[in-house]
Amino acid sequence: AVVTFVSHDGEKHEAPLEEGCSLMQVAKNNAIPGIDGDCGGEAACGTCHVIVDPAWADKVGPSGPVEEEMLSMNPERQATSRLSCQTKASESWDGLTVQLPEFQM
Ligand code: FES
Repeated sequence: AVVTFVSHDGEKHEAPLEEGCSLMQVAKNNAIPGIDGDCGGEAACGTCHVIVDPAWADKVGPSGPVEEEMLSMNPERQATSRLSCQTKASESWDGLTVQLPEFQM
């Protein structure tokens, strides 16, 4: 299964999805630019922000309470914004596309 990270300037980076891994880990493992993950996946830094393709929002699911608190501090968050460290990838997400926000270039 493959996930595509689309940078703000439209550049596409594909990475293999690993079941149970967070999208932040997937991005880090594959050196995707724009995902820093400074806090190591604690929902505390906001540097792993992704905007989920609306077509995939149901499958990826909504943000949790701690994550939401972090997201709500960001005026540029979108309706389908997630902290990628708080996601848990599934093989069934094959073809998923997430966008990287401009503020995270
Ligand atoms: Fe810090 Fe996700 S890695 S919030």
